[in-house]
Amino acid sequence: MYWGSRLGVVLAVAGSAVGLGNFLRFPGQAAQNGGGAFMIPYFIALLLVGIPLAWAEWSMGRYAGTNGFHSAPGIFASLCKSKWASFMGMMALLIPLMIYTYYIIIEAWCLGYAWHYLSGNLNLGKDADAYGEFFKTFTGQNGNGTAVDMGQTSVLIFVVLTFVINFVLIRRGINKGIETFCKFAMPLMIFCAICVLIRVLTLGTPDPDLPGQSVAGGLNFMWNPEWEALARPQTWLAAAGQIFFSLSVGFGVIINYASYVRKKEDIALSGLTATATNEFFEVCLGGLITLPAAFIFLGTAAGGFGTFGLGFVALPNVFSAMPYGQLFGFLWYFMLFLAAITSSLSMLQPVIAFFEEGLGVSRTTAALVLGGVSAIGSAFVFYYSANLSALDNIDFWVGTFLIVVLATVQSVIYGWVFGTKRGEEELSRGALIQVPRGVFFILKYLTPIFLLIILGMTIYDSGPGYIDNIQNDDVARRSVYLILAVAALLLVAIGYAILRWSKQGKFDWPDN
Ligand code: ALA
Repeated sequence: MYWGSRLGVVLAVAGSAVGLGNFLRFPGQAAQNGGGAFMIPYFIALLLVGIPLAWAEWSMGRYAGTNGFHSAPGIFASLCKSKWASFMGMMALLIPLMIYTYYIIIEAWCLGYAWHYLSGNLNLGKDADAYGEFFKTFTGQNGNGTAVDMGQTSVLIFVVLTFVINFVLIRRGINKGIETFCKFAMPLMIFCAICVLIRVLTLGTPDPDLPGQSVAGGLNFMWNPEWEALARPQTWLAAAGQIFFSLSVGFGVIINYASYVRKKEDIALSGLTATATNEFFEVCLGGLITLPAAFIFLGTAAGGFGTFGLGFVALPNVFSAMPYGQLFGFLWYFMLFLAAITSSLSMLQPVIAFFEEGLGVSRTTAALVLGGVSAIGSAFVFYYSANLSALDNIDFWVGTFLIVVLATVQSVIYGWVFGTKRGEEELSRGALIQVPRGVFFILKYLTPIFLLIILGMTIYDSGPGYIDNIQNDDVARRSVYLILAVAALLLVAIGYAILRWSKQGKFDWPDN
């Protein structure tokens, strides 16, 4: 099984990368961590870990794919030439699966908001508090179980719909499902985002009594460098975390997608193009729309909203104040929904590939089993909605901590087991660009060191708080139990896959 075209794989990887992280997470992180100054650690992280690791994942994935493995356990075994290394692949299944469980809930909020803009339910006038109330009720933040509100604005229906759409698409496979959908969704996303961007950049100074709240003021608010932020370790952590999350590096996704690229096709330029596309969406669209727009209408108060507050409370306030706000509100949330779905599909594919390849079941059975497992996880996140506690805890353990662990493991395997020599050969085969030699030096020495520092800092900075949560908060504890239970199930499944693959002689490594 291969991607249909080079454009198809680039759009699929870019689709995985461009997501809620670009439009909601990035502006919030940049604003809270030094504005324009945030871009220094951000670009350092992009150059030292983002691009090199993305290339490493492309190379390792394609290498293992040509050796007949598409799922992370098989890929890791193939790279280390040891069947036991399959167990390390567990993380590359756990991460996308667990992130999927909460990511699609946010995806469903976007679909819900798009619908409520279209139907006029979100025309709540200029009552700023009304949008905050709507968001809290819609997402069930007032208490556990309250999201199951079957009223006029029920979110449940959107969660179910989002779930079904994801599984219908993933069941269709990488060509007919992911590739075809990304080819249609990515241009549509650009169209919607550019419409909203033009609207925001032509807002001028909507209130003449507040001349500072203009487009220029908004851009200045977002991008004005606050150099002191660079002295705070938190800024560097946030920047590195943003790069991982945004590029889907350390997610187990790129390594899987790359395993479907043909042996002699370019991966060097494809990897760079997908990364550049992500950066365009993140810095040029995400960075110019969300926060500047919020500032134009809300002034410095815009800086006080968290990631979700910015996206689901501040922006509806903005749309209510701008001409044709209902239309632009719809375009914005529909665009977010498309961005999210191309990412959530990429979180399902690595696991489905493992079920098919490791357990030997059909795609339909794999989709059904995965549907069942992920539905339990999403139901957990959906139910424990008070203060979005389950979502926050799983996001920390998996979406912040484990992705750095996996990135570190991958960089060590790449630099020290698979070897940069083989890595370079793989990346160069069919390459349309020459990758500078320095990249391999960076991958072997600097990337693992940088990652180990980030890992240590993450543990030092956030570890005690979250450990404390586990001790004192039931939902935090249950979230960790859930992650551990899924990890245990995956390990058992991998054990079974190792037995199957051994019998099939898949571990009789060919010389290459
Ligand atoms: N990379 C995806 C995002 O930015 C997960 O949302």
